[in-house]
Amino acid sequence: MRKYSWFLIALLVFALSAALVAQDKPTIKNVPPSKTSAASGSEMYRAYCAVCHGVDGKGNGPAVPALKNSPGDMTLLSKNNGGKFPELKVYNSIRGDVGVTAHGSKDMPIWGDVFRDMGRGDSAQTSLRIRNLTKHIESMQK
Ligand code: HEC
Repeated sequence: MRKYSWFLIALLVFALSAALVAQDKPTIKNVPPSKTSAASGSEMYRAYCAVCHGVDGKGNGPAVPALKNSPGDMTLLSKNNGGKFPELKVYNSIRGDVGVTAHGSKDMPIWGDVFRDMGRGDSAQTSLRIRNLTKHIESMQK
């Protein structure tokens, strides 16, 4: 009888931990990026960035609960940089070679690689995409 109740307790603990694991925080599903025009920063922003950074850039996109780091408020980049838009830093953060990824965060996809694949290695198109996204972020500054 005693042995039996221990077995029940063990079963209960197991069921509880399984339930907790099942409730774990949401995960991000990787889907192939949709095609967009390299000429439109706002179209690309809505397609690729708003899910984390929010449509308005304030860092409140629907994927945020699944991230380790907060995307921050992108409308304050100029304000926090003495009133000057940090163009090169933003460009490099998007491309992913420096800055964001250098600091060990893998939350943000490396867009330089994504765009290079999308344009089948066309580096002019890759930099056009990153330039137009940078301009779009500049247009969001308060
Ligand atoms: C999966 C979520 C996610 C997506 C999608 C995403 N970002 Fe980010 N981004 C982040 C996070 C989180 C950070 C904060 C740094 C870090 O932890 O990687 C960040 C940081 C940045 C920064 C640096 C901001 C600063 O404070 O210097 C820029 C610029 C940026 N993202 C632009 C973009 C652009 C442009 C796109 C779309 C092409 C995009 N991000 C898509 C999550 C995302």
